[in-house]
Amino acid sequence: MFAGIAGRYDLLNHLLSGNIDKRWRRLVARTLRPSLDKDARVLDVACGTGDLSLVLEGVSEAHVIGLDFCRPMLEIARQKAESRARSVSFVEGDALRLPFADESFDVVTIAFGLRNLSSVEEGLRELRRVLRPEGRIAILEFSDPVVPGFRALFRFYFTRVLPRIGGLVSGSRGAYEYLPDSVSKFPDQKRLTALMREAGFEEVEYRNLTGGIAALHTGARTPS
Ligand SMILES: C[S@@+](CC[C@H](N)C(=O)[O-])C[C@H]1O[C@@H](n2cnc3c(N)ncnc32)[C@H](O)[C@@H]1O
Repeated sequence: MFAGIAGRYDLLNHLLSGNIDKRWRRLVARTLRPSLDKDARVLDVACGTGDLSLVLEGVSEAHVIGLDFCRPMLEIARQKAESRARSVSFVEGDALRLPFADESFDVVTIAFGLRNLSSVEEGLRELRRVLRPEGRIAILEFSDPVVPGFRALFRFYFTRVLPRIGGLVSGSRGAYEYLPDSVSKFPDQKRLTALMREAGFEEVEYRNLTGGIAALHTGARTPS
């Protein structure tokens, strides 16, 4: 599915969100900035076309690796990094079986990726495995809008309008029907907080973005 929409993925992200997605990714980088020391090792899982990986590298001197299992997405990510002379590495791999040793990263991020995994719980455990004790995690994901009137309006847009535009521009209506469908099955802000704690993260907090359309969850791996 992601291979089929890779070529139009960025355009649609920006179009369908009115460019708000860029602001959300910049916020992730700003939030993590204190952990992005020189030479910090950062893994951006389900990096897609690399936008978050590039923002993280852009605000720091950290070593950023983006990982995704969809080669056409990674090819676009690599082209972007090359054209902007950026030193992010992109690796093909499965988020549920990360090709890295235990405790190999200082920071792990996943943006709009966790929802797509066959098991959120397993995904969280795998992210924790590769994070060093006390390393930071950031999860950016669609969530549950918190303001009732706005929620109804957004649901109409998300389930009725977005699949049509997404289908017309990408040629894959299915992918843009899958989006609201997968979000409706994904844990809301509080449930995801609980799942992160159960998976072995502490200091877990979240921040609603744009009225809760998305949420940024952060935490740290427990010391042991
Ligand atoms: C909605 S895109 C998000 C891309 C990017 N992080 C962003 O912020 O735009 C979801 C990405 O997750 C990737 N993905 C889904 N399941 C995966 C898995 N099991 N392992 C690695 N990547 C996966 C897809 O290939 C796709 O590129």
